[in-house]
Amino acid sequence: MKTHHKVIFGNCMSMEEISDQSIHLMVTSPPYFNSPFDYQGLFKNYGQFLGVLRKFARETYRVLQDGRIAAVNIDDMLVNGTKYPIIADTIKVFQEAGFRYRDKITWKKPDGYLRISRRSGVLLQNPYPMYFYPDNLLESIIIFQKGKFNYRSIPQNIRELSIIDKKKFQQNKWYMTLWEMTNVLPGSPLEKDIAAFPEELPYRLIKLFSYVGETVLDPFLGSGTTMKVARKLKRNSVGFEIIRDLEKTIRIKTGFNGKNDFPNQEDKFEISERDEGKYRFVRIDYIKQKIVKIRS
Ligand SMILES: C[S@@+](CC[C@H](N)C(=O)[O-])C[C@H]1O[C@@H](n2cnc3c(N)ncnc32)[C@H](O)[C@@H]1O
Repeated sequence: MKTHHKVIFGNCMSMEEISDQSIHLMVTSPPYFNSPFDYQGLFKNYGQFLGVLRKFARETYRVLQDGRIAAVNIDDMLVNGTKYPIIADTIKVFQEAGFRYRDKITWKKPDGYLRISRRSGVLLQNPYPMYFYPDNLLESIIIFQKGKFNYRSIPQNIRELSIIDKKKFQQNKWYMTLWEMTNVLPGSPLEKDIAAFPEELPYRLIKLFSYVGETVLDPFLGSGTTMKVARKLKRNSVGFEIIRDLEKTIRIKTGFNGKNDFPNQEDKFEISERDEGKYRFVRIDYIKQKIVKIRS
């Protein structure tokens, strides 16, 4: 089965290139509001961040087929000592866009791994009350559904091609609301400066919530992890990315750089860029300048 993968360089607050009800699953991880490690000062304020989420949620609702799933990997964010309730607000925003809030999976990273500073060290230096700042090893995957899925709409042969390995499901504990998955290590070259999620995250979601030959959307594509996994699992994909400079990274990761070991060499890859209008793409220098300007 040949699959098709399309990257649109533009802002996903509008997904005008995608027609209504043409997507079978949305998997993504938006930028976490002004995250100190990745996006410090990117958004003017929290209201602006919520505005982006609102438009992205409405557009996701429009392009998803009835009955289908939107899965968002997100976390609350600590910025200058204040924790922003991003998970709760994203749930509200998606409900307001029309979705039913269905589930929340907690993603736990290995104990030894802490990307953020070891905040708990403060207490070790000052072992007294009021010096407690916990280290965070968790993120969330919040799962929404657009109406009801018609199980009878899928032909029997497609159901069989998309079958989920029950052994893997049990052994790797996919059945729980706690998923233990190793994160992308800081310093891994392809994901440098991109807060990428591990392949295991879209792998589980794509296996659990889409059928072979269907189309998966990632509106915040980053390095292209969702697209890579969609291709491996014989799903089509569409991704939006605002930073034009990421084309090379995405091509390498998804195996569309001329050198790859993907079994199906006939898969198609398409790039389009939206360089006019309000929701056009930007260059990395613009983002860097913006961050510096706000920081200084
Ligand atoms: C958390 S990263 C996603 C990483 C991705 N899951 C991966 O594994 O590489 C968020 C990405 O969204 C992009 N982005 C931010 N705002 C955007 C917008 N409004 N429209 C499209 N892309 C956006 C950022 O440039 C960044 O690459």
